[in-house]
Parts: sequence; C-alpha cells; structure tokens
Amino acid sequence: MDYIKVLSEQEKIELFDVLSSVTANPYLNYLSFENQINNLIEQEKIPYFFKETCQNIIEDRAKGQAAHVLKNCPIDLDFKLTDHNNPYQQKLNNKNTFIGESLLSVFSKLLDNPLLSYNNRFDGSFFADVFSWNQFNGHDSQFGDTELALHNDRTAHDVRADFTTLLGINCPEKELIFTSFIDGRDILKHLTSEEEEILRQPLFYTEFDIHSKQTTKNLVQSKQHPLIEESHCIRYRDGWTSVGKTNDPIVKDAFIAFIRALSRAEKQYHRLLKGDLFVFANQQGLHSRTHMEINNPLEAKKRWLLKTYSFESMQTAKKFSNRYVIDKFGCVND
Ligand SMILES: [Fe+2]
Repeated sequence: MDYIKVLSEQEKIELFDVLSSVTANPYLNYLSFENQINNLIEQEKIPYFFKETCQNIIEDRAKGQAAHVLKNCPIDLDFKLTDHNNPYQQKLNNKNTFIGESLLSVFSKLLDNPLLSYNNRFDGSFFADVFSWNQFNGHDSQFGDTELALHNDRTAHDVRADFTTLLGINCPEKELIFTSFIDGRDILKHLTSEEEEILRQPLFYTEFDIHSKQTTKNLVQSKQHPLIEESHCIRYRDGWTSVGKTNDPIVKDAFIAFIRALSRAEKQYHRLLKGDLFVFANQQGLHSRTHMEINNPLEAKKRWLLKTYSFESMQTAKKFSNRYVIDKFGCVND
C-alpha cells in the first residue's frame, strides 16, 4: 500500500520530543492526559509536518481513499509486552511513557475523529493492545494468535467505530503478517442491484466473538441487521455473520452472492512494521489478518499493535451520547 507520509529521522525525533512532554497516565487519569494533549495542540506545539499530513488524509478521504499509512512514527522506546496471561495488567503495572498513546490521541484530534471505547473492555481505555493472550489463542479473536477472516471490528455491536487505527510497536521482522483491506465500494461492484436490495434489509445476524461474549453481559449475537448500510458501509464478519430466520431462498442466494463478491473484490495489503501507523475505515470496508509466512510462532506471538477506535466526526460521536459513561465521552457504558 502507498504511504501518505514517511517521517524523516529528524521529524520523528521532533515529534517524539513534543509527545514525551505528556506525563499523565492515560490508563489511570485520562482527563489529565487529555488536557495535556489539548494543551499541546492549542499551544501550537505539534510540528507543522504532522498537522499537514493529517490535513492531507482528510482531503484524501474526501476523494474516496479509505486507508492510509504513515511510516517511521515515534513510539515508546523501553517497554515491551511479554506477559501473555494478562498483558493489560503488565502494561498498567510497568508502562511509564506514553508516546504511542499521545501520538494516537493527537492524530484523532487533528482528524476530528473522536475516540471510542467500551467500558467493559480494559477498564474503558481508549488504547487497546492487539497482542496475544493465552486464553484467546486458537480462537478467531484479535487477542489470540490466529489469522482473522474478513470483518469489521465489533460487527455484532450496535455502536461501531468508523475508523480503526493501528500503531506498530513490536513487529517481528522475520514473521510476515499482513493486514488486508477491502473498500466497500469494491464489494458493491460485484453485486447486482437486486442482490444489493436484499442485502440492505435486516435479514442477517452476527454472533459475538469469544472476547465479546466474555465481556458483554447476556448477549451472544446481534439483532438482525443489513449487510450493506448507507452508501457502502458493510456489516459482516466472515464465519460469524449468517442469514437470519427465513425460508426465502432469495435471501440465501443474495448471501452467497455477497461471499462471492468478497472473493472478487480488490484487496489492499499492508504489513505493519515498527513505527507504522495504519488507519482504515472500519465500516466502509472489511479487513483481515493474514499469516503469510510464520517462521517462528513464538516470535510471531510477540507482535504488538497499539489500537484505537474512532468516529468519523463529533456529530457522529454525539449520536451515541446517551450510551456513554458519565464524564467519559466516547466510552460506551456496556
Ligand atoms: Fe479487526
């Protein structure tokens, strides 16, 4: 995938120095952390090149580009996740610098993409770790060690991110793990208008994945939903989304046509390396994790991406205002 920006070494150091002035812990005191981030922006401390890159992404999105890569971004230098039993607790106990979190926070604010989180996941933190937990290994979960079939994040949930952002923190260089992305528009190209009309009706459902089932009380699957919404939003998780209660063969045929369209649609691939920031539309497309070549499974398990969810605008975020934890805008009170 083309890069919208490769930071020079000097730019990386300049941005690192600015972000390293953030001392508040986003996991323990998010309000202080956010205040420090807002101050950096209001006091014009963010380097011009980074603001310009964010502006370029906004303009590129308006032209229809749904995924972007920045390379050579600053990340935390010293801390590495190693505890596969409870990496989140390891991070709470030992991570003392927040370069990655600050970068993702500034990025979301400059794009006007407010962050989204879920209160029953990692204490409602806006910053999650894509890292393998022993208890999820072998399951089709982002927190396990397997590939991930085409999906949106939180497909079964009624509040879903418009954008997913991944920052490569530890990416073993000899392990070839790729993130794929399909733009929803490329899926629609392979469907007839009759098929699309059926796929736009709430005739389908999606099961919650293992992690969501553990953390979301009394829910095992979504309400029935369309597979296609708005102009080209896709709501689908391969292997987990299926046809709801119906005996109508036309609905099943449309579902099969959709799966065929996935095979035929153009895919973009990006292999996240250390310091790569990969942001892509979560609803206006589908993504997956492919293990192209694993040479050492133990090394591959060390892969660590810092991740945020965000809304496309403040206006969209405010649509769910009644769902948030009091005094924590964007954190869904599950
Ligand atoms: Fe995902």
